[in-house]
Amino acid sequence: MACKKTQGHDLLSNFLSSHQRLNIFLVVFLIVIISPTEAYDPLDPNGNITIRWDIMSWTPDGYVAAVTMNNFQKYRQIMSPGWTIGWAWARREVIWSIVGAQTTEQGDCSRFRGNLPHCCLRRPTVVDLLPAAPYNQQYSNCCKGGVLASWGQDPVAAVSAFQISVGLAGTTNRTVRLPRNFTLGGAGPGYTCGPAKRVPSTVFYSPDRRRRTQALMTWNVTCTYSEILVSKHPSCCVSFSSFYSEDITPCPACSCGCRNRNNCVSSSSGRLSSRVNISRNDDSPLLQCTSHMCPVRVHWHVKINYKDYWRVKIAITNFNYLRNYTQWTLLAQHPNLDNVTEVFSFNYKPLVPYKSINDTGMFYGLKFYNDMLMEAGPYGNVQSEVLMKKDKDTFTFRQGWAFPRRVYFNGDECRLPSPDEYPMFPSSACITLVSFATKSAAMLFMFLIFS
Ligand SMILES: *[C@@H]1O[C@H](CO)[C@@H](O)[C@H](O)[C@H]1NC(C)=O
Ligand SMILES: *[C@@H]1O[C@H](CO)[C@@H](O)[C@H](O)[C@H]1NC(C)=O
Ligand SMILES: *[C@@H]1O[C@H](CO)[C@@H](O)[C@H](O)[C@H]1NC(C)=O
Ligand SMILES: *[C@@H]1O[C@H](CO)[C@@H](O)[C@H](O)[C@H]1NC(C)=O
Ligand SMILES: *[C@@H]1O[C@H](CO)[C@@H](O)[C@H](O)[C@H]1NC(C)=O
Ligand SMILES: *[C@@H]1O[C@H](CO)[C@@H](O)[C@H](O)[C@H]1NC(C)=O
Ligand SMILES: *[C@@H]1O[C@H](CO)[C@@H](O)[C@H](O)[C@H]1NC(C)=O
Ligand SMILES: *[C@@H]1O[C@H](CO)[C@@H](O)[C@H](O)[C@H]1NC(C)=O
Repeated sequence: MACKKTQGHDLLSNFLSSHQRLNIFLVVFLIVIISPTEAYDPLDPNGNITIRWDIMSWTPDGYVAAVTMNNFQKYRQIMSPGWTIGWAWARREVIWSIVGAQTTEQGDCSRFRGNLPHCCLRRPTVVDLLPAAPYNQQYSNCCKGGVLASWGQDPVAAVSAFQISVGLAGTTNRTVRLPRNFTLGGAGPGYTCGPAKRVPSTVFYSPDRRRRTQALMTWNVTCTYSEILVSKHPSCCVSFSSFYSEDITPCPACSCGCRNRNNCVSSSSGRLSSRVNISRNDDSPLLQCTSHMCPVRVHWHVKINYKDYWRVKIAITNFNYLRNYTQWTLLAQHPNLDNVTEVFSFNYKPLVPYKSINDTGMFYGLKFYNDMLMEAGPYGNVQSEVLMKKDKDTFTFRQGWAFPRRVYFNGDECRLPSPDEYPMFPSSACITLVSFATKSAAMLFMFLIFS
């Protein structure tokens, strides 16, 4: 084979002049410049959760406000046990009542006689009610147990709202003071909220849209997610296999850190046995023992090669015995996702972050069928197959082209195997050389960038 003779710097220039090899080069280049732990999410640069307060009426000692949360993130949801919102009052405000939510504590209301406020804390924490809440405690878009779908999955289910009646507060738009130091929790750590900002009053329409009203005053708080705050390790990993190779490329060892290794459950015990003490109330996972120690693994199998199409099987496995992932989302980036022909047993939505590139899509479960990824064990997996039309100019099984460039589960980026470990296309002695060249080129580029 010709390529076996190429050596040294000839190899690199040969590599650089080849269009196909440039592809994987670009992939590595992207992986090198965009580290998985950055705060800014390039696939959802405007993703945020906005908390909007609309003052609907003034009362003798304060106001009544509708508080609305919108999850504008394309693929990151808030799972059960749901959101909590906290803030610090600017003065001595109290909450007389809440409809559609509640505070976790009442606090010290001993200075009041007769009717006691719902909450007298300087820093109240509000949680959602469960769907079974009594009718007179319900409010539109309330009572979802704090669960917020992602915007891309279901914009209607991505909204949560409650009504709050505030006392000992200002009673005009000049005297009211905006609450401070908002926090958004419950989804685990990860969200940071900016200051409340006055914005133009929200306009409401009557159901027939013939009458227009507006809030007396509106302020917004924007909260953004950062994976770094959650953990310095990924929370999922990806493994590969293909019909053309017997090799399975496993998740890299300790992809998610091996700190839980002493506390994991061996898979031979099958379903979680009663020996294991799960009466713990912290949020830490109880994992099945694996070499990657991730709570979630995504497997991408290149399954069938047709003349004009090819088929990939995707399986997501839960290794955490203590968590059901409700309304999970999976994001994959692959150049052929712009020609998805059919997706079996998952929903699929292309994500078009930049007008010109349509290579990223979101997969999520079918309602009441597989929208919940069950706890680790015999039912702890969901699967799908994806049929894509080959684009004759770019399609190839060589150099790992058939594998995804990025994968996210529930909005967190998953650790991929390193490119030189991808299943090899047979009869290609060049591939090892290319992966060597890829590494050299990546190192060369790192050198150019960082020097
Ligand atoms: C929040 O997200 C929405 C929707 O993507 C976007 O229009 C808005 O600009 C974002 N806000 C901030 C402060 O980033
Ligand atoms: C305030 O939040 C709402 C969502 O609740 C959003 O539609 C609106 O654009 C936000 N306003 C500003 C100025 O960010
Ligand atoms: C307060 O509300 C009045 C009308 O109710 C309006 O004329 C005035 O501009 C508002 N002031 C501010 C600071 O928004
Ligand atoms: C808000 O947080 C800052 C810094 O954490 C703190 O200095 C300030 O006192 C807090 N404000 C209120 C009203 O709690
Ligand atoms: C199980 O956990 C609970 C709470 O952490 C603890 O009180 C109890 O002693 C533990 N039991 C065993 C057998 O480890
Ligand atoms: C997951 O859901 C199943 C079925 O609804 C339930 O039996 C199980 O207790 C749940 N597991 C956890 C960890 O919440
Ligand atoms: C992106 O790809 C999907 C899947 O093939 C297709 O349905 C959609 O029309 C494409 N969108 C754009 C803007 O090209
Ligand atoms: C794949 O999608 C791209 C962009 O949507 C389109 O230009 C191209 O013709 C498609 N290829 C095939 C084979 O359908």
